[in-house]
Amino acid sequence: MSGALAAAGSARTLWYLTRGTGIVTLLLLTAVVVLGITGATRWQSARLPRFVVAGLHRNLSLLAVVFVAAHVLTTIADGFAPIGLKDAVVPFASPYRPIWLGLGTVAVDLVIALTVTSLLRGRLGLRTWRAVHWLAYAAWPAALVHSLGTGTDARVGWMQLLAAVCTVAVAVAVLWRVAAGGAVWTAGRAVGAAGAVVVPLVLFLWYLGGPGSPGWAARSGTPAALLGGASAAALPAPPFAGPLRGTIVQSRPDSSGEVTVSIDAAATAGRVRVWMRGAPLAGGGVHVYDSRVSFGTAATPNLYVGTLSSLAGTRLDAVLRSGAGSTLDLTLRLGIDRVHGTVSGSLRGTAAGASSALGAGGSG
Ligand code: HEM
Repeated sequence: MSGALAAAGSARTLWYLTRGTGIVTLLLLTAVVVLGITGATRWQSARLPRFVVAGLHRNLSLLAVVFVAAHVLTTIADGFAPIGLKDAVVPFASPYRPIWLGLGTVAVDLVIALTVTSLLRGRLGLRTWRAVHWLAYAAWPAALVHSLGTGTDARVGWMQLLAAVCTVAVAVAVLWRVAAGGAVWTAGRAVGAAGAVVVPLVLFLWYLGGPGSPGWAARSGTPAALLGGASAAALPAPPFAGPLRGTIVQSRPDSSGEVTVSIDAAATAGRVRVWMRGAPLAGGGVHVYDSRVSFGTAATPNLYVGTLSSLAGTRLDAVLRSGAGSTLDLTLRLGIDRVHGTVSGSLRGTAAGASSALGAGGSG
């Protein structure tokens, strides 16, 4: 069984992209809200005239739409969690951390509404446009709570700092807008002032009892199959190595000429399953297009899931991730008995290079 991996991005690359694009989107949204408030106060300086503030507000919001689209697409392509395109539009429907992922979806829906109504502002009229634009004040906290409630990095120092800076920036901007309203207090200004103080406080207390404390992955609604939890403790801590033995099944070519290969093997460390799909090669190998690898105990085989990162001769490398966010590199060296449909060889597991950076974080 030899072949080259055609799948371009490894599971780990997509995961990094999801996190990176999410963080850029959050920063852009924060800048857009602050610039929007700055514009509404009619503030300007010699260096930053009003048309520049308005232009920045518009262009950064369009950039945020591009980044959030990339964030959603990499999440879906990653395939680690059961999240589909529907979950990017319909909030609270995903089985993966429904509330916290759902708030990200709410934020996206609101951002879409804000963008569309702004593009159609001329036709809609100022009153309708402004009424919809107030939703920006709901979109931003929804996005922040989603970021901390869903993200792997919620307990890492730089993420805490980033969330704090974004919150202070928006709160100060709101207070500034309230103060710029002059001496006459309206109900709207009172709500704005109270919100700028109360919302950050509530967010902080929620964070302390929620994503900031251990066990959040389970409490936030991560499906048990991804969580591992107590059963993960049954697996040896990496690095580990040992013999492996199991079965291999290759399907007949389907109508498009592709085959699937399934390996199910028991090693001293645990049970490993590999599924590959691709085109059969003349020499007996398979040119793999798509793959899925899982590792766990006999009873719970999906404690770690991921994809192949390389396939050379009879050596398979895979990058897997647990529901709690730790990463594991697996290497299988296989001897294949095609007549009997069996495999034997060795399995090695190492903590992935990225895991030390993530270790402090994790989602619980
Ligand atoms: C405006 C809307 C959104 C913003 C600003 C946003 C931002 C973020 C941020 C900052 C993170 C944390 C990344 C980290 O911990 O390193 C995150 C995580 C995540 N987001 Fe979003 N997001 C939004 C919408 C969505 C939507 C609609 C989905 C899916 C349908 C989604 C899926 C995810 C997932 C699965 C994670 C966890 C990634 C991980 O494993 O760390 N997000 N998001």
